Amino acid sequence: MSPDAPIAIIDSGIGGLSVVRALREKLPHERILYFGDTARTPYGWKSAETVTGFVRQIVQYLRGYDPKHILIACNTASALALATIRKQFSDVAISGVVEPGARAAIEAAGAKAFPLIAIMATEATIWSKAYERAIHRRRHHARLLLRPAPLLVPLVEEGRSEKDPMVRLALRQYLQPLIARGADVLVLGCTHYTQYKSLIAQQTAGKITLIDSAAACAEDVARRLLAANLLSGNPSGGLLRCFVTDGSPRFRTLAAKFLGHEPEPPTLVTPDQLHLIGEDLRQLRISAA
Ligand code: DGL
Repeated sequence: MSPDAPIAIIDSGIGGLSVVRALREKLPHERILYFGDTARTPYGWKSAETVTGFVRQIVQYLRGYDPKHILIACNTASALALATIRKQFSDVAISGVVEPGARAAIEAAGAKAFPLIAIMATEATIWSKAYERAIHRRRHHARLLLRPAPLLVPLVEEGRSEKDPMVRLALRQYLQPLIARGADVLVLGCTHYTQYKSLIAQQTAGKITLIDSAAACAEDVARRLLAANLLSGNPSGGLLRCFVTDGSPRFRTLAAKFLGHEPEPPTLVTPDQLHLIGEDLRQLRISAA
């Protein structure tokens, strides 16, 4: 595997672009392929079977580009699908967002004997108990407050800013109980939420340490590539290519909010095309057997 090979990043839509931004700031020479499943977003209240099927198709497609690492930059997909996908594609390095977020939360809790760690995430991420497992594996006595925040993804997808009264109201509703219960740490367990990070910091007024799962996972990927000797040193390598499953022009407008600039027009890969690629590979395997 060459250090010049791309890093492939997968998300249900646009939220994973917060990870792309963090990763590009850390590793500016990397070639990044970003796949947003914009036709089938949101994943946040779908079943594990459905989300795993979507992610499997996308991984099959992206493997055609020989990535050196595949990052599932969506908490929901990491929580529901990562373990199965890793087993199915054991020849390629695949990581997710939940473990780095949990690790950062434990570090932020410091030496406190029974820290109270709050997780704000999609319903599916909360139901999966992936954060509970990841945190308790590291710190058995950590107390958890789990807060599904289903309104936030649609608000981000609608392009509503931190100044919007609906955003302010929704965040107040979600954050008040966490502040009242005295949470020490709050994990922003959905890559969309970085859009409202400053407002969340303002509303929690320094009382809670915030963990941005997007930033934590960008650090994690950088660490993994360094350990595998796969960091790109190519100064002209820093490219971003996007793929989407729906051709609406919204993607570029919203992507600009995450990236700070409009990306090049994305390549359209429809869900039907993803399905056909999966079928072709299945047929190949059957005829080779
Ligand atoms: N950004 C995704 C996450 O980190 C959730 C968005 C969705 O519901 O599809 O969980």
